[in-house]
Amino acid sequence: MENSSARPMKVCIVGASGKLGRYMVKHALDRGYDVVGVCREKSVAKLDAFKGRIKIFPGPTNDREVIGKAVAGCDGVLTVLVPWGRSQYATGTAQAVMDLARPGARLIFSCGWHITRDGLDKFSSLLKWQERAARWIGSFTRLLDIDDQIEACRRIFNSGTRWTVVRGSDLEEGESQGLPVWSRHVGDPILESNLTRRVDFALFMVAALENDELIHESPAIVGCQSTSARTHAAAADGGERRSHMP
Ligand SMILES: NC(=O)c1ccc[n+]([C@@H]2O[C@H](COP(=O)([O-])OP(=O)(O)OC[C@H]3O[C@@H](n4cnc5c(N)ncnc54)[C@H](OP(=O)(O)O)[C@@H]3O)[C@@H](O)[C@H]2O)c1
Repeated sequence: MENSSARPMKVCIVGASGKLGRYMVKHALDRGYDVVGVCREKSVAKLDAFKGRIKIFPGPTNDREVIGKAVAGCDGVLTVLVPWGRSQYATGTAQAVMDLARPGARLIFSCGWHITRDGLDKFSSLLKWQERAARWIGSFTRLLDIDDQIEACRRIFNSGTRWTVVRGSDLEEGESQGLPVWSRHVGDPILESNLTRRVDFALFMVAALENDELIHESPAIVGCQSTSARTHAAAADGGERRSHMP
């Protein structure tokens, strides 16, 4: 992340009051960052545990005025992309962050495995079915719009910003197991377990702020202690040892 001065990194968390958001607040504070957050007015109390340690800008995350104030002077912005409602909430949120964050800021966005950047992901029948179901339920109830999250990501991928789109697997609660591992394409064997601790999804998002290798990547992540990640690590380790045999 670009920050030549001695001051701590200043980071904005958009969607700070949600489960993922609160984990990100904690990780960012643990790293000594100066943290500001955006969340809906009615959710401000969900951040009481961080009172006095973060500055909160209440409002909808697609409100450009709120986002403009919140991201001012930030070196990085962590955005929880959620496709709520039918009025392009995710797209409006992503566009506001991209337009209003300072040029050169690191922008990290969350989404799920269903997003594809280059069309080379191999989705299981179950995942395809889940996406179809979410699209159908969303259009029926008008509570959700998967296509909005897809459009938000399309705009991010085509932007000139220093973005990373982190694609989460299925999530579970529990203690941290460490930084998740990742791959470029869903369907790669390392991702087969399809399970990550939510606290570690947040850890990956925050760590991405200072990992320039992730700029312009859309890593699909999985828990580092999941079976597929461990199998992959063991296979890589075996190959490494064999290559060093005399
Ligand atoms: N859940 C999964 O299994 C899963 C799997 C893979 C990837 N992901 C990705 O992870 C991210 C969030 O996941 P999460 O499950 O951990 O959820 P979360 O952290 O609880 O985040 C939900 C966010 O949505 C906001 N929200 C809820 N209802 C809303 C509404 N009606 N209008 C506007 N905002 C609303 C919440 O704000 P308030 O605090 O104000 O309610 C919160 O910021 C998303 O990017 C998602 O695509 C999730």
